Amino acid sequence: MKLFQRLRGGVETQRLLLRRWEHKDFRAYVPIVSDPEVMVPAGCQPANSMEAASVMFSRDMRNDLCYAVVLRETGEVIGRFKFQGDLRRFHVNSLSVGYELRRDQWGRGYMTEALAAMITYAFEKKKVDVLAVSHYADNERSKRVIEKCGFRFEGIVPWACKRFDGRICDDVCYSILRVDYINGLEANAQGHPPT
Ligand SMILES: CC(C)(COP(=O)(O)OP(=O)(O)OC[C@H]1O[C@@H](n2cnc3c(N)ncnc32)[C@H](O)[C@@H]1OP(=O)(O)O)[C@@H](O)C(=O)NCCC(=O)NCCS
Repeated sequence: MKLFQRLRGGVETQRLLLRRWEHKDFRAYVPIVSDPEVMVPAGCQPANSMEAASVMFSRDMRNDLCYAVVLRETGEVIGRFKFQGDLRRFHVNSLSVGYELRRDQWGRGYMTEALAAMITYAFEKKKVDVLAVSHYADNERSKRVIEKCGFRFEGIVPWACKRFDGRICDDVCYSILRVDYINGLEANAQGHPPT
């Protein structure tokens, strides 16, 4: 089964479209980036004013590694997804991912669906050799998303980061290497799960 369909400027899944941000998305962007329960677990500073949200929005609009997560059926923007530099690796062709979903959309499998498609996109189109992701130790939802998408656990960095609510967190790190990605494809093609 084809996991995603490459569109001009976006990636399509069964229920979602991940595409570049457009000016018309600002109204939908604000409630996502203003919610501390969404932003703080993701390691981002919540926007505490329209001005702050506008600055963040302009930055995401200019960044071609940042995507709006859109419901295909309604066109509603429900989240953010981005590729970014992998701060734990040097001189390696790697990226890491970050994502946030509006709170009323949690628990419906949307981010698992988005991340699965973006893994394929990263290896097939962006030609990365390593795709990395991490979550703070208490972020069980993100942990499940990462596990369901087949990332390999690397280890825990204790006291990795002081979050925007002042709490010091351990960072739980994962990656997929190109060799694992290829093995997974081959195992799927042969009808048995990857090792
Ligand atoms: C992390 C986030 C993107 C998850 O998106 P989502 O679309 O809700 O994820 P899914 O529905 O695919 O999966 C959520 C999983 O967490 C599980 N879950 C839900 N609530 C949970 C809880 N309180 N404790 C533990 N697990 C929980 C769900 O059961 C599901 O796992 P399952 O499929 O095995 O049942 C979303 O919660 C979010 O935006 N959080 C704030 C930002 C953030 O943390 N970003 C990630 C930074 S690393």
